[in-house]
Amino acid sequence: MRIDNKSYKTIWFNEDKSVGIIDQTKLPHSLDIISLYKLEDIITAIKTMQVRGAPLIGGAAAFGIVLAMKDDPSDKNLIESSKRLIATRPTAVNLKSSVTIMNDKLNSLQKKDRYEASLEIAKNICLEDEECCRLIGLYGKKIISEYIQKNDIEKVNILTHCNAGWLATIDWGTATSPIYHALKDGIKIHVWVDETRPRNQGASLTSYELTNEGVPNTIISDNAGGLLMRQGEVDMCITGTDRVLANGDVINKIGTYLKALAAFDNNIPFYVALPGTTIDSKNDKVSKNMIEYRAPDELTHVVGIDDSNVLKRIRIFPKDCTALNPAFDVTPGRLITKLITEKGIFESSAEGLSNYHSTSKK
Ligand code: MRU
Repeated sequence: MRIDNKSYKTIWFNEDKSVGIIDQTKLPHSLDIISLYKLEDIITAIKTMQVRGAPLIGGAAAFGIVLAMKDDPSDKNLIESSKRLIATRPTAVNLKSSVTIMNDKLNSLQKKDRYEASLEIAKNICLEDEECCRLIGLYGKKIISEYIQKNDIEKVNILTHCNAGWLATIDWGTATSPIYHALKDGIKIHVWVDETRPRNQGASLTSYELTNEGVPNTIISDNAGGLLMRQGEVDMCITGTDRVLANGDVINKIGTYLKALAAFDNNIPFYVALPGTTIDSKNDKVSKNMIEYRAPDELTHVVGIDDSNVLKRIRIFPKDCTALNPAFDVTPGRLITKLITEKGIFESSAEGLSNYHSTSKK
C-alpha cells in the first residue's frame, strides 16, 4: 500500500543481505526505514514493536531465521535462534508457526544450503500472507456491498480496533483489506478508528494508513464506540486477531471484547478477519501464557511530539503508581458474526473452523 503516494511493503530483503522494515514505533511522526543485519536486531524489533501485528511478526521471525543462518547454519544455532524468536511475544500464533515451518524445511538440509533455502522460504511465507490478505479483502468486500444493498444506504460506517491494517501484515491488512477493496469499487466508506490505548495503534497506525489510502476516518477514544453504536453511527465492526482458538474464541488487542459486547447488544455485525495462519487448532482454551502482559510504563507514559516537533516521552500518571497492562483479551465466538478468511466466510465456532480446514483455497 502507499505512504505519501509511494508503494511499500512492511518487510523486505535488501541486496546487502539485511532485512528492511518500517520502524513502526516512529509512526505517524516520521517514516524511518531501517535495516536489520542480525538475528538480535530482529528480536529487538519484535519485542519493541518496531514490527508488530500477528502476520508481520510471523514474517519477521522467518527473516530472523534467515539472518541466523547467514551467520551460522549449524543445528545448534537453528534450535537456539528458533527458541529465542518464539519467546519474543507470546500471543500471535503466526510467530511460532513461521518458525516451525522454517525448522521443518531446514532440518533435513545440509548446512551449506540452509541460508539460501531459508531466504526462499521466508519470502514465500510473506508472499503467502500477502495473497491471503488480498483474498480476505475480496470476501470482506462482498459482505460490505451486500450490507449496503440490504439496508439501502449510501455510505457504510465501519468501526475497527487496533491496527489490523497493512502495517500489521505484509500488505493489504486483514480488517482493512475489505475496506481497501470496497473503496476501489467505489463504495462509500467511513471508518471509526478506536484509539487503542495504551500503545495507540489505532490512532498512530490505522488512521495514518487509511488517510494515506484516501479512506475517510475519524479517531475515537476507546470508550466512545458504545455510544456511537447506540446512536446508529456504526453499521458493522471489523477487527483482526492474533489467535483464533479451536473453539472459535478470538484473542485480539485489549478492548476488542468490550466492542464485541456492545455490538452484540446493539445488533451490529461484528466480523473478525484473519489468514488461516492465525488459527490455533491445538488449543480450545485460553491459557494464561497466551496473553501478553507488557511493561506498565506503556500505560503510565505517553510518547508524542510537542509543538516544536520534538519527540518526547512524558509521564501522565502519579509517580510510583501501580499499573497493569494486559495487551490482549478474549472474545467468545458467540459474539462474533462471522470470520472472514482467505477461503471464505465461516462461523466462529469449532464447527466453523473445521469447515475452514476442509475447504480449499479457490
Ligand atoms: O500488539 P500488536 O500491535 O502486535 O497487536 C496487533 C493486533 O492486535 C492486531 O489486531 C492483530 O495482530 C491482527 S493483525 C492483522
